[in-house]
Amino acid sequence: MTIHIAAKSGEIAETVLLPGDPRRAKWAAERFLDNPKLINDLRGMLGFTGTWNGHRVTIHGSGMGMPSLSIYANELIRDYGARTLIRIGSCGAMQNRVKLRDIILAMTATTFTTPSSGIFRELKYAPCADWGLLRAAARAAEALGTTPHVGGIYSSDVFYDERPDLNEQMTRHGILGVEMETAELYTLAARHGCRALAVLTVSDHLLTHESLPGAERETGFAEMVEIALNAAFA
Ligand code: HPA
Repeated sequence: MTIHIAAKSGEIAETVLLPGDPRRAKWAAERFLDNPKLINDLRGMLGFTGTWNGHRVTIHGSGMGMPSLSIYANELIRDYGARTLIRIGSCGAMQNRVKLRDIILAMTATTFTTPSSGIFRELKYAPCADWGLLRAAARAAEALGTTPHVGGIYSSDVFYDERPDLNEQMTRHGILGVEMETAELYTLAARHGCRALAVLTVSDHLLTHESLPGAERETGFAEMVEIALNAAFA
């Protein structure tokens, strides 16, 4: 057990899927895993371990934002031996060609800061996905009949961002979408020699101001989980 995770040693798999929302962790575990077992519920942050096609998998909430994800990812990697970490989450689209419900595979994650920024001082570290996972996820998505967008995303610290032309600059520079966790996940994975990837579903659009109705978020979410599981064990 760690400060934030109640699981016993050995109860967490080497492959961990990380949705932001703990209730989505429960939903995904019940839908995709055989014999899912609750292994953490401290602070309501739910984690489950089961098997998918015979492979052990943990699905654990990360919370929202990089400080929260950093706590869980650090403990999962350093204390429980997680080696493959795949974020499954939602994002806001920043390009017109990216539509609601589309899947984005985050090749890089631009950011102002992450909880790791302090150790880099002036260096602008470039957090990037594990290439093998990224390639496997692109292939898995295509096999499922979806063509994902693959490219850079922006990991923000601010959901209600009032900086005037920031989004415009991101769009001009080809950023596909915005979310709040991936840059720190990629940085931690690199530091500890782990594989990491973010598979994201577009839930809202910063240019058109559309957003997915609640019920539909689940359908898109299922596709993401399938892509992530297939990529992890490709
Ligand atoms: N901003 C930041 N994070 C998000 C968004 C957004 O618009 N949509 C989903 N996650």
